[in-house]
Amino acid sequence: MTDIARGLEGVLLTETRLSLVNGRDGVLIIGGYPVAELAPNACFEETLHLLWHGKLPKKAELDTLRATLAAQRGLPAVTLGLLKAAAEKKLPTMDALRLGTDSLSLDDAKPGDTSREAHERRAMSIVARVPTIVATYWRLLHGQQPVAPDAKLGHAANYLWMLTGEAPRPAAARGLETYLNTVIDHGMNASTFTARVIASTRSDMVSAIVGAIGALKGPLHGGAPGPALDMVFELRQEAEESGKTLSNVTEVWSRNAVRTGERLMGFGHRVYKVRDPRADVLGHAAEALFEGAEDKQLYEDARTVEEVCLMILEELKPGRNLKTNVEFYTALLLHGVGMDAQLFSPTFGVSRVGGWTAHVIEQFTEDRLIRPDVRYTGPTDLKWVPVEAR
Ligand code: ACO
Repeated sequence: MTDIARGLEGVLLTETRLSLVNGRDGVLIIGGYPVAELAPNACFEETLHLLWHGKLPKKAELDTLRATLAAQRGLPAVTLGLLKAAAEKKLPTMDALRLGTDSLSLDDAKPGDTSREAHERRAMSIVARVPTIVATYWRLLHGQQPVAPDAKLGHAANYLWMLTGEAPRPAAARGLETYLNTVIDHGMNASTFTARVIASTRSDMVSAIVGAIGALKGPLHGGAPGPALDMVFELRQEAEESGKTLSNVTEVWSRNAVRTGERLMGFGHRVYKVRDPRADVLGHAAEALFEGAEDKQLYEDARTVEEVCLMILEELKPGRNLKTNVEFYTALLLHGVGMDAQLFSPTFGVSRVGGWTAHVIEQFTEDRLIRPDVRYTGPTDLKWVPVEAR
């Protein structure tokens, strides 16, 4: 009898050319480039091209991709109606993103077309519209009129424009671009796996992306950065009110939290047993963004909280190798970009949808049903009892 690989840890599912995650050495390669090489330099459209086509675009290809994405940013009326209904119910933004993305099926001119071109066309249309869904919903939720996309702006800058209705600061747009590039793909994470399982049944692109959004929503996957930032703010406030040092307050709180079985958000990873390389890339981007900004102290304070949490995790959970993960610096960077914490997970989706679509196309090409086994532990010899006699 084979051992159970709970959580499918260490199980090799398939081959991919999209990203390599080496958790032992803290290495992440995206489409052949170390994340630190690609993320701070590329625009999001270049990274998309890299995943979809296996190489960085030439100038003309990049111009075409930018123009094609920009032309498809508008939402169908039915999607807008759905988002309005969701805003009336005050649904969480991740739920609205799921609903809005699902409705994009209605906009598919050839829903039965399963050619590679059709999959690529759908990938383009979904990736183009996910930021519009998030930004439109965010504004509706806060009683504001949606802002129409601006075709002159790149994918990242336009997302900020649609969220705020203000021309984005170049430093903020660059910070967001770096974030979107950094988290676009990451091996066989839970949401990507979900998308591939759905695609493996020969289902459709929209279904796979909607399933992936559902998987991303959970706090063990994409939902951690909001709480990570809250933690820093709450500890700062406690230090201010008590007159104690931030380091001291963090030590007392985190020791108590870990002892009572709480998880410190932004720490630990299923794959990385050393520092998550994305944390470094985002940390540098956050440092650049906070440089000269009003709240530079927030960056310093976050570093203090990180240092103390790492020390406590090492002390109370020795040997588990719990290090800073991507979410800790995501929180800091996106806050610096000017985003509300409720937008962190949906913005993760704005990026990761690029990776999901590339994986779905890979899976359609592989065309192998994903169907693991399970060990049954129930009884096997029960006798039927009519309902009146149970
Ligand atoms: N704080 C405190 N203890 C932790 C933490 C944490 N953040 N993470 C793991 N542990 C402890 C567990 O309680 C467990 O302790 P035990 O051995 O005494 O029982 C041990 O470390 C191993 O934990 P597992 O649950 O086996 O680790 P797993 O690989 O399943 O978990 C996960 C990975 C889910 C990310 C976990 O570290 C966690 O919950 N972190 C906090 C949430 C978070 O930051 N999520 C974002 C992840 S990054 C991403 O998805 C993009």
